Amino acid sequence: MSESITSVLKEDRRFEPSAEFVSRARISSREEYDRLYKESLDDPETFWRRESSELVFREPWTVTSRTKGGGEPASFPFVEWFVGAKLNVTESCLDRHVKTARRNKAAIIWEGELGATRTITYGELHRETIRFANALAEHGVKKGDRVAIYMGMVPEVAVAMLACARLGAVHTVVFGGFAADALRDRIADCQAKVVITQDGGYRRGHVLALKDVVDKAVSQPEAKSIEKVIVLKHLGDRGPQVHMHEGRDLWWHEIVSDTEAGPAREATPVDAEHPLFILYTSGSTGKPKGVLHSTAGYLVSTHVTFKYVFDIREDDLYWCTADVGWVTGHSYLVYGPLSNGATCMMYEGAPNYPDWGRFWRIIEKHRVTILYTAPTAIRAFLRQGDEWPQKSDLSSLRLLGSVGEPINPEAWMWYFDVIGQKRCPIVDTWWQTETGAIMMSTLPGASFTKPGSTGLPMFGVQPAVVAKDPAAPGGYRRVEANQGGLLILERPWPSMLRTVWGDDDRFVKQYFSEIDGRYFTGDGARCDADGYHWVVGRIDDVLNVAGHRIGTAEIESVLVSHPAVAEAAAVGKPDELKGQALVVFVTVKPGHTPNSTLAEKLGDHVSNEIGKFAKPDQIRFADALPKTRSGKIMRRLLKDVAAGRESKGDTSTLEDLSVLAKLRADEE
Ligand code: WTA
Repeated sequence: MSESITSVLKEDRRFEPSAEFVSRARISSREEYDRLYKESLDDPETFWRRESSELVFREPWTVTSRTKGGGEPASFPFVEWFVGAKLNVTESCLDRHVKTARRNKAAIIWEGELGATRTITYGELHRETIRFANALAEHGVKKGDRVAIYMGMVPEVAVAMLACARLGAVHTVVFGGFAADALRDRIADCQAKVVITQDGGYRRGHVLALKDVVDKAVSQPEAKSIEKVIVLKHLGDRGPQVHMHEGRDLWWHEIVSDTEAGPAREATPVDAEHPLFILYTSGSTGKPKGVLHSTAGYLVSTHVTFKYVFDIREDDLYWCTADVGWVTGHSYLVYGPLSNGATCMMYEGAPNYPDWGRFWRIIEKHRVTILYTAPTAIRAFLRQGDEWPQKSDLSSLRLLGSVGEPINPEAWMWYFDVIGQKRCPIVDTWWQTETGAIMMSTLPGASFTKPGSTGLPMFGVQPAVVAKDPAAPGGYRRVEANQGGLLILERPWPSMLRTVWGDDDRFVKQYFSEIDGRYFTGDGARCDADGYHWVVGRIDDVLNVAGHRIGTAEIESVLVSHPAVAEAAAVGKPDELKGQALVVFVTVKPGHTPNSTLAEKLGDHVSNEIGKFAKPDQIRFADALPKTRSGKIMRRLLKDVAAGRESKGDTSTLEDLSVLAKLRADEE
């Protein structure tokens, strides 16, 4: 991994925010951003104290950051932030608001897949959280216990998370699309005591029998740590038959009303470093990693980034479309927005149910002002054409966000022109499950955006694009502007993961050994002359084509810029002559025919845009690409298909297994 990475994407369009946007923005110039950013690095004590002043601390912190068992400030890998503080995050997310006019403000506006809507005020969310926390405590949940949450996108999932936090219990939300074995493995790894689930939920017109999956998972010996299963009645008579196991299973509504008469428990204050949650993320090999987040550092980072990146205002209706089973759903659907007193839209179902106009009708109906979604969704909408968004009034939108993958400039421009109607800045936010909060983004009123760039570092974050260099101090050097390299984070930040649950060695090896003592993100990137970052994709997705190491994202961006292409994935295939041959998988937009003429045109297009050396050796058309349940293309599986071998690794995160079978069948 010592060679450099050639960055081939040329993109120099820039878009300034409108004068109107700037005039109301929290941070309205690059100078103001630069000053704050500098302060966050030079004087973190002053910066973090001021920026967290509206949060609730029972006891203030005495040390801003330190190495665990060592000196100040913190150095990798084991760190502590805001040492000495005592707090309960729910007091920042709920209690502080109910003492003000926000008591009757909507915290969550929910829409079910079938069209029902509910509004939950801060006052109600506060009350429901306390009632449910009381019930959990009554059934044995204590500070430090692990609680698995296996639910769909219903308001009670936020109640469940907050109720755990209220008690100092550690939640682990498992995405409701995972199968029983994946749930079992996560329960076993963290030794969860309780599972909270629901009878069922809707997805694309089908009923998901969530409680059934829990039954399958907890009936296995590996999951014997589970003492209670708590079931929310969400569908009731419309849902599947639920079998309640005597002595183990409890109805949510029954335990809540049974404990109502008991004493209302106080929120449990915990130390700054007390674990808040575990979230499992899959590595490309091996078992899932339980990423562990702490209390104070996580709260402060999500609070501050949410406020500035989304430039949140009292009257915004903010919609994050991510499922609560992913980190985006934790940080920017629950903790960040609630700690800021924002109103969140929450939608239960699929983006294309009953048709591709659903998202746009939700925006029109509720007057959504901020939309935060993923490139995979944007490309899927783009593929369906402009007619769908054009049927709805999107004039309420003022800001758009993207997260999860590099957004290719083509999709960015469509998002900007057709959804944002050239009026809304786009914040392209780079971060990871491990980072807990956004690490890079443009601040929407402070500076211009560039299609495909994740912009500038957030406060307290020090990214660097580097190459290994054994002769240099630390074993690496920063590469020049516009050169590709490894993306690292040079200093600890408040919301970084504290460890991999139960496996400190894996934590150190995974994140701090590529470049000794620095956090390696696993991504390749370049930084341009304006200090804007461009993520070129995961390093394990880097291709070596004729001696040039190129990020898959860049080849894919060029392919998607062709009018016939909806999505593309580039992978390497072992080749006796060249070492690696370039194979691309392409899906086409409606109205285009996948044939050899088109393949030829696409090959020429890549040659013209990047260079002859990058011309794909093989172009394969597909109906769909294999994706994880959070929408990331699984290149590892495509690599196996391209090489004509069986896939050995874990396929539990694959959204639709039939896609893979179809790709294999297409092989001549
Ligand atoms: C990728 C999601 C480019 C990146 C919050 C990262 C991105 C991984 C972006 C983390 C972005 C996320 N531009 N790439 N704006 N956001 N990524 O843990 O490869 O699901 O390392 O966290 O997604 O994915 P995760």
